[in-house]
Amino acid sequence: MLLKLQAKWRELKWIASLLVLTVSMSLFGYHLASFIQPQPLPLPQISNFSAFVPPLITAKQKPNDTDNTEADDRRNLARILREASTEEKTVIVTMMNQAYAERDSTFDVFLESFRFGNGTERLLRHVVVVCLDDKSYSRCLEVFPRRCFLLRTTGIDFSGERLFMKGDYLKMMWRRTEFLGSLLSLGYNFLFTDMDTVWLRDPFPRFIADVDFQIACDRFNGNSSDTRNYANGGFKYVIANPRTIEFYNYWYESRLRFPGKNEQDVINKIKNDRYIKKMGLKMRFLQTTHVGNFCQQDWDITKVCVMHGNCCIGQANKVKDLRQVLEDWTNFFANGDRKRGFRQPMNCRSSLRRKRPHIG
Ligand SMILES: *[C@@H]1O[C@H](CO)[C@@H](O)[C@H](O)[C@H]1NC(C)=O
Ligand SMILES: *[C@@H]1O[C@H](CO)[C@@H](O)[C@H](O)[C@H]1NC(C)=O
Ligand SMILES: *[C@@H]1O[C@H](CO)[C@@H](O)[C@H](O)[C@H]1NC(C)=O
Ligand SMILES: *[C@@H]1O[C@H](CO)[C@@H](O)[C@H](O)[C@H]1NC(C)=O
Repeated sequence: MLLKLQAKWRELKWIASLLVLTVSMSLFGYHLASFIQPQPLPLPQISNFSAFVPPLITAKQKPNDTDNTEADDRRNLARILREASTEEKTVIVTMMNQAYAERDSTFDVFLESFRFGNGTERLLRHVVVVCLDDKSYSRCLEVFPRRCFLLRTTGIDFSGERLFMKGDYLKMMWRRTEFLGSLLSLGYNFLFTDMDTVWLRDPFPRFIADVDFQIACDRFNGNSSDTRNYANGGFKYVIANPRTIEFYNYWYESRLRFPGKNEQDVINKIKNDRYIKKMGLKMRFLQTTHVGNFCQQDWDITKVCVMHGNCCIGQANKVKDLRQVLEDWTNFFANGDRKRGFRQPMNCRSSLRRKRPHIG
């Protein structure tokens, strides 16, 4: 099936789409979930889910310039998606905030990796960077023009490093789910990747054919259909169709049933729901061999496509260890030295032992 898929992609001169929404919190945060007691919080209704509809405000309350901003945002998003998407209307989405956008931080390592990876540079034109605050937006425009979208969320400051599971963090995660759902409604397939990833090979040939929703997991049990695999929301490939639109709607609405839980917790709670079976959604889990992560103890450098810097606390630790992955990869790629593989991400490992509850 993979071969067939690969061939098909080659025929179509498939260029993977990159709409990248990497929430600044990204994955390592997910892993902390088990350590940190989530605080129950009322989650705000950010906007209605359907398509890219801005929050409903009555005409009376809405100053005229807001009108224009919303219309501009929609136009801007439409333009970016049109330019970034592949012929099959696929984009690669990542997301960032100010902390990720700083010079020599996550954003830079992420972009660099596409240039060092094997056959990944051509994917860059499909990457869309969703920025959560003005500072990250202006940095994005500087280094990656025409692919930056500012996702506004009234009244919330997403700019700093966040305490995991604090209110704004949760809101950001749910905003992300909502936004991705809106892309499906607009007819775009997406590969969402957290930004704290390095791209070493094109992951598209590794995706499973004829699947609606495929998602990375922290530990893969060998069966891609088995919902006992623990989903990791930081990397997922989703085809736009009525089932996935319905599924995203259901996922987003399910936050109300599980107050204080982030979208990854919730998908792991709802993934077996009868309702999802009824909608006929075909869900699969991606092998960690291809979408690797820092929670693993070893990796196959001859197979890894994307490495995710999760299981890590603190932006600086994460960036150091992701850079180390790039170094090891570059050595391997230049010299074909398979033996050495990847070194352990020691900064991230020791950050977990200290268990400071920061997101980076
Ligand atoms: C939200 O969208 C649904 C359809 O997706 C619609 O039925 C409902 O009326 C909308 N709610 C509001 C408040 O706009
Ligand atoms: C908004 O625009 C309308 C006409 O388009 C105008 O009458 C009204 O005064 C404007 N309101 C504000 C707050 O600028
Ligand atoms: C890089 O890509 C080329 C073309 O697909 C392939 O032949 C080669 O084996 C790849 N190298 C590595 C190290 O993956
Ligand atoms: C994989 O998991 C699915 C769903 O739990 C199950 O139906 C199937 O039998 C499993 N396959 C194997 C080879 O174990």
